[in-house]
Amino acid sequence: MSDLKQEILDLKNRRGAVILAHNYQSADIQDVADHVGDSLGLARIAKNTDARVIAFCGVHFMAETAKIVNPDKIVVLPDRDAGCSLEQSCPAPQLEQFLKANADRNYYVVAYINCSAAVKALSDVICTSGNAVRIVEQAPADRPILFVPDENLGAWVMERTGRPMDLWKGSCYVHVEFTRDSIQRIKDEHPGALVVAHPECTQAVRLLADEVCSTEQMVSFCRNAPVNDIIVVTESGMLHRLRKECPGKNLITGPTDRCACADCRYMKMNTLAKLRDCLDKLEPRIEMDEELRRRAEAPLLRMLEQSA
Ligand code: 13P
Ligand code: SF4
Repeated sequence: MSDLKQEILDLKNRRGAVILAHNYQSADIQDVADHVGDSLGLARIAKNTDARVIAFCGVHFMAETAKIVNPDKIVVLPDRDAGCSLEQSCPAPQLEQFLKANADRNYYVVAYINCSAAVKALSDVICTSGNAVRIVEQAPADRPILFVPDENLGAWVMERTGRPMDLWKGSCYVHVEFTRDSIQRIKDEHPGALVVAHPECTQAVRLLADEVCSTEQMVSFCRNAPVNDIIVVTESGMLHRLRKECPGKNLITGPTDRCACADCRYMKMNTLAKLRDCLDKLEPRIEMDEELRRRAEAPLLRMLEQSA
């Protein structure tokens, strides 16, 4: 084990910390983490941990979610600037204005977890890619749904549930890079391969997939697939997790038109050195106004209840 990894483990023990890492984190961070998973799994673990400190290796909204459900714990993330294009595409003041202007519609607001605490506070329920279908199925039948901020995930949920929704025009800058051509080309190179894609991809790409699911569900899909070759259409960090969990499979990265794989620059801002520093200094720390935290917590708890 490298000196840096050993230092991280020593600091973790000294701080009474747990290290959570999203499936898109770099291989070295995944390997030093206590838990690696998708947004839903990590939110559940964050809710149930009794560690004093949570070091969240992911993007800002994920660490913020951990803080919302753990007001008394210290939550740190290695790089404060690790954002998300989906979060940026739905500023809370814009959503608030839209809801005011459309007050007569009495929208039931379903927010994908990739959004700020302030957007969560304006929402009725939160969902992740792992439970979005189930959450929308439980929405009140007599109210129109506004789905924010990912129009691609929203469109996929509409296809799956048959429930019409008004969609906020946001998207993930990584997943929209995959195109019908780039995925068809790699399929042609691997005849017989199955394709698994994240629901943040566009419909043109989703239509080429054998399965559309969250990053965690990709692990069981690949493990149980009846073939060896599987094309994985999501951020590149996922491949490390999948290769560890499914050593017998030939896992092929989905290419974009420009690159052999797609990286999320925000996810990759975190490094082992920054993880060591945040455990050492307990900074950058997530802090939040208590009134905002309480308003953001209610729809999150509803999600956890509705997807238990
Ligand atoms: P998952 O919850 O499926 O891991 O997705 C998170 C994400 O940011 C996808 O881009
Ligand atoms: Fe956000 Fe896309 Fe990065 Fe996921 S991959 S954190 S949705 S920018």
